[in-house]
Amino acid sequence: MAGALLLICSAACDSVAVSMFSTVVDSALGAGDLTALWTPATWWAGVAVLSGVFVFGGEYLTARSGERFLLRLRTRVFGHLQRFSPDFVERRRHGDLLARLTDDLDTVERFVSSGLVHVVTSLFSVIFFTCYALYLSWELALAAFVIAPLFAVITRQFARRINDRSREQRALNGELTAILGEDLANAAVVQAYNRQQSEERRLYAAGVRLLKTNVAISRLSALYSPVVHLAETVCVLGVIALGTWEVAAGRLTLGGVLAFAAILSFVYGPLQQLGQLRVMVSAATTGSERIVELLDELPSPADLPGARPLGRAEGQLRLRSVTFRYPGARRPALDQVTTEIRPGELVAITGASGAGKSTVTKLLLRFLDPDRGAVELDGVDLRALTLESLRRNVALVQQRTLLFHGTVRDNIAYGAVTTGHREVVHAAMAADAHQFIIALPNGYDTIIGEHGHGLSGGQCQRIAIARAMVANAPVLVLDEPTASLDDTTVERLLVPLRRLASGRTTLLITHDLRLTAIANRVLVMADGHVAERLPAASSPPQPIHADRGASPGGVRWSGAGDPRAGFPMSP
Ligand SMILES: Nc1ncnc2c1ncn2[C@@H]1O[C@H](COP(=O)(O)OP(=O)(O)OP(=O)(O)O)[C@@H](O)[C@H]1O
Ligand SMILES: [Mg+2]
Repeated sequence: MAGALLLICSAACDSVAVSMFSTVVDSALGAGDLTALWTPATWWAGVAVLSGVFVFGGEYLTARSGERFLLRLRTRVFGHLQRFSPDFVERRRHGDLLARLTDDLDTVERFVSSGLVHVVTSLFSVIFFTCYALYLSWELALAAFVIAPLFAVITRQFARRINDRSREQRALNGELTAILGEDLANAAVVQAYNRQQSEERRLYAAGVRLLKTNVAISRLSALYSPVVHLAETVCVLGVIALGTWEVAAGRLTLGGVLAFAAILSFVYGPLQQLGQLRVMVSAATTGSERIVELLDELPSPADLPGARPLGRAEGQLRLRSVTFRYPGARRPALDQVTTEIRPGELVAITGASGAGKSTVTKLLLRFLDPDRGAVELDGVDLRALTLESLRRNVALVQQRTLLFHGTVRDNIAYGAVTTGHREVVHAAMAADAHQFIIALPNGYDTIIGEHGHGLSGGQCQRIAIARAMVANAPVLVLDEPTASLDDTTVERLLVPLRRLASGRTTLLITHDLRLTAIANRVLVMADGHVAERLPAASSPPQPIHADRGASPGGVRWSGAGDPRAGFPMSP
């Protein structure tokens, strides 16, 4: 706002400067009188300095408030995005989401900050100079402003075309960012399958489409200026012809005509800017449409009215006839699942791929809500609890440890907001991670890459265990924490996992018999049902068909004995 005011002041200064110009021409230049020059010249120089100061202040303040606006808008949109379930985010192409949070927001910012300010200042400039022009000669002024409707027609034609292209441009920009993001994330697969060239071609093809759209937009923009300029020239020539006639008739001085010509350059500039603003509005509209599209999506699991915070839970979990079907799926991922886990119990869930095990974990963290039935913690439906307090009570360790680019310490401390160094080291010791961490080049301050670059799979998992330790939640959800790790690594994880689970209600999803062995009970899932329940000590031996088990036949174990004692592996 202050920026706009300063820019308006600078427009006022410019009109004073033009009036000085007229005085200089008539009293000094026309009369050949040098002494008459000093006063208007001093005024002229004075307002020029003042105008410069106003322009500087105005542009600076406008840019600063624009950047602040962008920061607030981005934070707001990102905050909204954070409330979507991970499933929603994973369904969308990350690159496209990124483009919306960066480039699309940028177009909106450009319009709102500089765009709107320029509308206001341009309008004021046009008003100042029009008044002055009318004061000098209303006949000339009318001739000069014939151009205004012409501007409007030309601009409308251009803006419509640019609008269509901008929409294309935003979508293509999203696609390009998405391809880049995918390629960087999947670098190993791309190289292992020698697909670098096909990826380059894919990126090139998307780049060519973007190039064509950008060139089309530039062509339209480049054409806009000369067309407008031509219209201006015709008007200026008309004004000069009329001016010559007025001077001849003695109704206007030469200084008046020249001042008029100067005014035209000051008026046409802002008029052009107003026209270009329509073009800017087009880009901002398409950008904001893509942002509003995101804001319009309602975060799926949200705090329901009357949701209450939960203190530290006892840890009793219950699924009551839970049925859940993913949007668009033919059959439910979970069908009438009923089970109960007592506080402090360690229950393993096993079963074939696609049986619905991970879906159970998503329901426990309320990444998803059941279609029918209910999931309860301490006898309370999860939907009656605030999401924040629920997730404070449930810690998650997944198969693929998600790490952030940062120090080992930060990644462990991520488990709880206020975590000191002592807690981090303590958790790392319990997770059997302390030894390898202190052997890293900078110990706890070693920077690890986004996907745990620089660490082995087992080390990543131990960091994940330490992170869950730090969270110190009464309920623990482990979704295949040892999948894709070799036998020795798994063996080494058993003790820290057991430590982590001790004293917490633990749901351990695994295909690994060494892990089911540490469980109090084993549930077997198949096709969205809890198919078998094996009481730990007295269960009869049952083969578990795990289509991604380590054994060639897909049968991980068959044999007698107590699951806690460990099952013999099939060859
Ligand atoms: N986001 C999703 N959208 C649609 N269907 C899904 C989605 N996630 C899982 N499914 C489907 O739901 C079913 C259960 O999936 P879930 O991930 O729970 O299986 P799982 O038992 O964890 O398998 P795995 O052992 O392979 O991890 C599967 O048929 C799967 O194809
Ligand atoms: Mg799974």
